[in-house]
Amino acid sequence: MATVSDVLYLNSTDLDGLGLGVAEIVPVLEAMFRLRAAGGTIMPPKIFFHRHGPPFYSSMVSASPKLGFAGCKWQSGDPGNPARGLPYIQGLFLLSEDDTGQPVAIMDAKWITGNRTAAASALAARHLARKDANSLAILGCGLQGRKNLEALKGVLPSLTHCRAYDIVPEREAAFVQEMQGRWGTQVTGTGSAERAVRGADIIITAGPIEQSRRACLLPEWLAPGSLTITLDYDSYITDAAIAAMDLVLTDDYGQIEDARIHEGKFTGVHRVDAELAELLTSGKGQRMNDAQRILVFNLGIALEDLATGVEILKRARARNIGTRLSP
Ligand SMILES: NC(=O)c1ccc[n+]([C@@H]2O[C@H](COP(=O)([O-])OP(=O)(O)OC[C@H]3O[C@@H](n4cnc5c(N)ncnc54)[C@H](O)[C@@H]3O)[C@@H](O)[C@H]2O)c1
Repeated sequence: MATVSDVLYLNSTDLDGLGLGVAEIVPVLEAMFRLRAAGGTIMPPKIFFHRHGPPFYSSMVSASPKLGFAGCKWQSGDPGNPARGLPYIQGLFLLSEDDTGQPVAIMDAKWITGNRTAAASALAARHLARKDANSLAILGCGLQGRKNLEALKGVLPSLTHCRAYDIVPEREAAFVQEMQGRWGTQVTGTGSAERAVRGADIIITAGPIEQSRRACLLPEWLAPGSLTITLDYDSYITDAAIAAMDLVLTDDYGQIEDARIHEGKFTGVHRVDAELAELLTSGKGQRMNDAQRILVFNLGIALEDLATGVEILKRARARNIGTRLSP
């Protein structure tokens, strides 16, 4: 007879207390992408819709009998939130064990999203950036800007400087002050997206995803050999820059198509060369020389949340962290 489990609730303080660093999530994601390529996962398209203007809701579900769990993330995004002292992205992640279908954990999704997204950038950069990459451009000095600097430095110790731009000068200045030297990288504020991007080896676009696209990143800003990773769909990068890329990859073809059909995004994407799972398992879409300009649309997939959530649960149980809720 199976017994009904308690549900473990883990808030962001509990998650911080696990000591699970973003660098440790990179191999967790790599293993998940390999499992995905081997057919060991299930992931319906994510649901995403704007609320009224830029704010959005989304729900992301996935399962893996091999991992032994299924998960669902419910979240909202609102670019107006930081001005109100609230995070842009907020939500909860629910984990069920696959054998019985029982819910076993509820976790703060903001923590998971913040860390797994940066770990996914690091995974892509480890395989696609030039080995001698030393300069990073961050567009959008929020949570992802911070986490991406940490994660990228972890896989590319050669990164010596970071040029950062935020549309709000005070946020750019705060980023520079907070991150200066923190990861052994010199950080400069640029006051302009173009100045941040020109000459950079790696570019992270982490501005808001908006209903009305205001893309401005032009192809002539992009150095030969650069790697651009967008976290904000095609919000920042122009269609001309997308067309100028030698290689275009994504974490999920299906989600690009779904966003094109349902949200009118990615109308300038006419070719995707490979998914990250294919890159990792067969080398499809790999960098062929140091001059190629490569673009990765990292949309963020439910399986990243699942793999990270499973790792969190393992650690929380081992360390007896979290609050038990009776069923
Ligand atoms: N792909 C994924 O897996 C994934 C996961 C999490 C977040 N995101 C996306 O990443 C982006 C950043 O998320 P976050 O949590 O860091 O948000 P955040 O609110 O913490 O930071 C966003 C920053 O961008 C700045 N900004 C707004 N417009 C800008 C512009 N035109 N140029 C430069 N800066 C601008 C804001 O002032 C803010 O400081 C969002 O679009 C979010 O939806 C993607």
